[in-house]
Amino acid sequence: MFSSSVFCTALCLGASVYASDFASRSTPGVGEEFGLYAYGDAIGGLSLFYGNGKALIGDPANSTASNTSSVYFERSSTDSTWIANPNGTTNANASWSDQMLYIPSSSSSNDEMGFASTNASNRTTTGFIFYGQWMMVKSDSGEISSSFYIRENSEGEGIYSLLWNASDDASAIPVSLRTAKPSDS
Ligand SMILES: *[C@@H]1O[C@H](CO)[C@@H](O)[C@H](O)[C@H]1NC(C)=O
Ligand SMILES: *[C@@H]1O[C@H](CO)[C@@H](O)[C@H](O)[C@H]1NC(C)=O
Ligand SMILES: *[C@@H]1O[C@H](CO)[C@@H](O)[C@H](O)[C@H]1NC(C)=O
Ligand SMILES: *[C@@H]1O[C@H](CO)[C@@H](O)[C@H](O)[C@H]1NC(C)=O
Ligand SMILES: *[C@@H]1O[C@H](CO)[C@@H](O)[C@H](O)[C@H]1NC(C)=O
Ligand SMILES: *[C@@H]1O[C@H](CO)[C@@H](O)[C@H](O)[C@H]1NC(C)=O
Ligand SMILES: *[C@@H]1O[C@H](CO)[C@@H](O)[C@H](O)[C@H]1NC(C)=O
Repeated sequence: MFSSSVFCTALCLGASVYASDFASRSTPGVGEEFGLYAYGDAIGGLSLFYGNGKALIGDPANSTASNTSSVYFERSSTDSTWIANPNGTTNANASWSDQMLYIPSSSSSNDEMGFASTNASNRTTTGFIFYGQWMMVKSDSGEISSSFYIRENSEGEGIYSLLWNASDDASAIPVSLRTAKPSDS
């Protein structure tokens, strides 16, 4: 099933995006480094970065998390795992490497996305795919969705937590995640 929210996130927000932007030529290849940027209502392409193991959205320079770094991703060659590394040019505390992006699994009590070097039953580290430059998640049963949200947190000005499947939370803002940098940066 392809939920209507996916179409709305991908198509309504992208009304100004031409169909050619969905073409595979813009999809990062295996081993190619890419960043992720959140777009939504009044959210014009804020970067996804690392803050104490969580996936945060905003300007990493504004983050008050003690362990903050901007990150780039690479797709694994063997499966749909996305591996993050600190973007070394931007932070002195970047003493970690090769962490997998995860969404909380259905058994998790938490809705926050993050980074981890090990697998656990409450984290899903596979199923990350692209439609052109748009990030989607494919479940084991083949269902494709893009149920990303952000929620303001207290870790700095304009800093949000990146959430999965948080439709029950009235304070959560739906976003899409894309590899395209905002044009004004
Ligand atoms: C990594 O840092 C460089 C220099 O600040 C920047 O140009 C680039 O966009 C960053 N990449 C990502 C994926 O954030
Ligand atoms: C690095 O970590 C230390 C200790 O947590 C913190 O005090 C410092 O502000 C951090 N530096 C940067 C550039 O984030
Ligand atoms: C930042 O987090 C990584 C991964 O958890 C850890 O290995 C590293 O020591 C931390 N750095 C600081 C300064 O806390
Ligand atoms: C997964 O479980 C561990 C241990 O109970 C907990 O520390 C962690 O926060 C949980 N992660 C998620 C995403 O629910
Ligand atoms: C976690 O699970 C994924 C999918 O099965 C696998 O590709 C990856 O190597 C595992 N990572 C670790 C550190 O166990
Ligand atoms: C970062 O903080 C400054 C003020 O300290 C603010 O003007 C700016 O809008 C913030 N950046 C983002 C992306 O929210
Ligand atoms: C979102 O959460 C609902 C309720 O927990 C669950 O039924 C549904 O499968 C989840 N959807 C995704 C895409 O994870």
